[in-house]
Amino acid sequence: MAVYILGIESSCDDTSAAVLRDGVLLSNVTASQAVHEAYGGVVPELASRAHQQNIVPVVDAALKQAGIEREQLSAIAFTRGPGLLGSLLVGVSFAKGLAASLGIPMIDVNHLHGHVLAHFIHTENDDYVSPEFPFLCLLVSGGNSQIILVKSYKDMEIIGQTIDDAAGEAIDKCSKVMGLGYPGGPIIDKLARQGNPEAFTFSKPNIAGYDYSFSGLKTSFLYNLRDWIKDDPDFIEHHKEDLAASLEKTIVDILMKKLRLAAKDLKIRQVAVAGGVSANTGLRNAFHDYARRYGWKIFIPRFSYTTDNAAMIAITGYFKFLDKDFCPMSAPAYSRVAEDRV
Ligand code: KG4
Repeated sequence: MAVYILGIESSCDDTSAAVLRDGVLLSNVTASQAVHEAYGGVVPELASRAHQQNIVPVVDAALKQAGIEREQLSAIAFTRGPGLLGSLLVGVSFAKGLAASLGIPMIDVNHLHGHVLAHFIHTENDDYVSPEFPFLCLLVSGGNSQIILVKSYKDMEIIGQTIDDAAGEAIDKCSKVMGLGYPGGPIIDKLARQGNPEAFTFSKPNIAGYDYSFSGLKTSFLYNLRDWIKDDPDFIEHHKEDLAASLEKTIVDILMKKLRLAAKDLKIRQVAVAGGVSANTGLRNAFHDYARRYGWKIFIPRFSYTTDNAAMIAITGYFKFLDKDFCPMSAPAYSRVAEDRV
């Protein structure tokens, strides 16, 4: 009998549902929340409310696109954390209610594992080649910047991470300082394509090991900008492409330097990237460049699997389903990784 998994993601500002049949993706439906654009960042209270409005239609659409009835589901996988608690509670409570009404098991998924295992999402007849274990994964999103040693589907070790801001957070904040929209990542990416990455220099962290730091860069960007605006009030307008390109280059250089160090030390040549910032053109180009220079075999996910989506939750859930690794009804959502315990 076929195994049908419904995946549910609601950790931040995307309500998403996906259906897999025997590990193959049938549907992946996401409702994003435009309501936050006016505030220049995600407003948790508004995010929870929007999840409440979106969750039922999104799940219905995912089941419809997959061409199945809810009674055919074998299990429900859901993001239990980390993320915004109010947002998570919507997905977790919905998953519990649906699983109880159908009498099927629930599978809790760590959102970060989901991002890493996005490399194992396959649709019928696609040609994406998944990495083999062990591999390194650079996970870069609005909330995380980590280098993860992936030993198996469930054994992942964080060997480096940011000690302050995440890369995506730094990009979003610098974009806000420039008066650009939210989220800043795609806007900076677009502007950067027309700018000179060598035009400006911003400070880079000097931290031991594989850890990252982006708060100094953010401050350096802000202070430099203040000085330049004193001389030319329209400085941003005159230089926005060069500013975006230089900022992007600085962030990509910081990310790649530590990743290269880890790959060299651990003698690993399979290197993947995941999370929202992996959509960035400069970062993708740097991966291709490092592949040529250092003989890396690189894994870059499809755009639709880089930002938050339920397909990655469903595939992680599928691997746990095969191990019969289910979670009890009493499992609470958790906002931080350290609370990742039943
Ligand atoms: O993984 P994600 O969708 O959400 C979480 O943080 O959980 O990542 C969102 C982040 C935001 O900071 C956004 O600005 C960034 O990913 N992002 C990008 C690009 N697309 C999204 N950053 C740089 N270039 C992009 N093209």
